[in-house]
Amino acid sequence: MSLVGGTPIVELKNLRKPGMARILVKLEYMNPTGSHKDRIATYMIGEAEKQGILKPGGVVVEASSGNTALSVAWVAAQLGYKAILVVEEGASPVKIGLIKALGAKVVEVSGGYEEALKTAEEIAYKEGGVFLNQYDNEANVKAHYETTAREIYTQTGGILDAFVMGIGTCGTIAGVAMYLKEKAENVKIIGVVPRGAAIPRGLGAVGERIEGLSHDGIPNIYRRYRELIDRLEEVGFREALDYMRDAIKFEGIMGGLSTGANLCIALRVAEELGRGVVVTLAPDSVMRYLHLVS
Ligand SMILES: Cc1ncc(COP(=O)(O)O)c(C=O)c1O
Repeated sequence: MSLVGGTPIVELKNLRKPGMARILVKLEYMNPTGSHKDRIATYMIGEAEKQGILKPGGVVVEASSGNTALSVAWVAAQLGYKAILVVEEGASPVKIGLIKALGAKVVEVSGGYEEALKTAEEIAYKEGGVFLNQYDNEANVKAHYETTAREIYTQTGGILDAFVMGIGTCGTIAGVAMYLKEKAENVKIIGVVPRGAAIPRGLGAVGERIEGLSHDGIPNIYRRYRELIDRLEEVGFREALDYMRDAIKFEGIMGGLSTGANLCIALRVAEELGRGVVVTLAPDSVMRYLHLVS
């Protein structure tokens, strides 16, 4: 468990042009299962233990086909819990294989995320387990407030002007924003969403699909913490892909698609600022998106 967090931060050397602010990228893909979600899985399970709703050898349930599924499976395996992951039909067989290799059970559903959510609730009830529900769980925000944000603050010496982050559950940007705004009032918080997404445009809108970022829903954490976000920026799939490739080629940053989206906006903000420091994350690794680089 001690391997979670404490990730390195690197500065862009080649994509940054003269006259731009410096850009620092925190490499969250260095976490054990390859994403920032190891932090929240640790916290969500830890909080359930503290609240006494998760007993030794108990069951944790989550609805996720993405990074969180792997993180929950990994943390549960480390701590001796049984993990049940409800995934949407069509999830990558490689990812399902890895979740199973970690000892977790996988339940596939066909009705999209709503169906996954309902099924996860039912399973948790039947098994006497805990439904973690990252989209609504305060421990998601707390994980980033207490770990990611503090690390950023220490690694930058508290000197930063903007934080740029893609919004999926909204946990990362909410937790980091809350901490930074307490410590450095003038820091600007910029949220990144897929072009056409529901967050800026309202329910019913379905944005371009950038894995990990919310394209057709408005997470409850966003509803609770939206005032911490100073500005939203939209990014298209193609731009995210181009910047993901540029990060690999010119910076050796092996981030995934949302890293590309983050960098696209971080560079724009750095240009606007002209000086100072912009911080963003590489939430996961290109190894999850090899089909997009071949
Ligand atoms: C690859 C990737 N990037 C970004 C995010 C967004 O992070 P958060 O859920 O903390 O808003 C996620 C969340 O699922 C993700 O998997």
